[in-house]
Amino acid sequence: MDFTGKVALITGGGGGIGRAAALGFAERGADVVVVDHDQALGQGTLDVLRQQGREARFFPADVGKSADVAAYVASTMAAFGRIDCFFNNAGIEGKVAPIYDYEDEMFDRVIAVNLRGVFLGMKHVLPVMLRQGSGAVVNTASTAGLVGASGMSAYTASKHAVLGITKSAAADVARGGVRVNALCPGPVETRMMRSLEAMRNPADPEGAHSLYAANIPMGRYATAEEIANAVIYLCSDLAGAMTGTQMVVDGGRIGSGGPSPVPRIRKGD
Ligand SMILES: NC(=O)c1ccc[n+]([C@@H]2O[C@H](COP(=O)([O-])OP(=O)(O)OC[C@H]3O[C@@H](n4cnc5c(N)ncnc54)[C@H](O)[C@@H]3O)[C@@H](O)[C@H]2O)c1
Repeated sequence: MDFTGKVALITGGGGGIGRAAALGFAERGADVVVVDHDQALGQGTLDVLRQQGREARFFPADVGKSADVAAYVASTMAAFGRIDCFFNNAGIEGKVAPIYDYEDEMFDRVIAVNLRGVFLGMKHVLPVMLRQGSGAVVNTASTAGLVGASGMSAYTASKHAVLGITKSAAADVARGGVRVNALCPGPVETRMMRSLEAMRNPADPEGAHSLYAANIPMGRYATAEEIANAVIYLCSDLAGAMTGTQMVVDGGRIGSGGPSPVPRIRKGD
């Protein structure tokens, strides 16, 4: 888990999971590049990294735009000369609405960020890694990449597609010493879940939070740091034989199919 001398490039690095990953890679010695389309959020992560005395850069970019992606990869190469870990993570939730009410424009926007952004990122980063003969990519999917989520047709479609493109890309580069995997978080304590809770139940977002949490066997959301830990593992040599697959980090939600009963046997009983 030592990333000294390595370069980690993180899209959506201003957000909850991206920022936790940026800090996690930096703590383990990596030089970190943050990409985000939100200037204030990206700069915020850069400030935290620099306060901790880390070598880091922030490049503003929209991951859905080809020219922006080419530019953030070129800027990273100009600054550090290599890319060892690529956390292809920027994403948006879209709106919560049944498919028959889902707006065309919102569908296109979600696909542009969550799928086209992931495609463009790999298209531009993988040649760098193949030239190096090494590298690891982690694409952020979701448990919505494995099962359907009602009211979230665009998001669910985009995250299923992330799993597909991960498998295909992994096969393209496996002989070149480069690994490509996907991560499937369940609910995580970030802005995105706050937004979904408010859309699910505008009158009582905290009630929506409780309902989501109650449907997770562990009874709680994951923290952004717990998701970042999985990303760091997948980028490390410890995961050397893992490629073209996904890791689920969801407190037991998908594996169990629902909430667990409260345990009857507790310490002290
Ligand atoms: N929070 C969860 O419960 C959860 C669960 C499963 C998967 N995910 C996925 O994890 C990833 C990170 O989400 P998060 O929870 O940290 O949410 P977040 O909203 O805190 O972070 C997302 C970041 O991506 C950035 N971004 C959005 N569109 C962009 C674009 N076009 N170009 C560049 N940057 C852009 C945002 O500015 C933000 O900083 C997303 O792909 C999301 O779908 C989140």
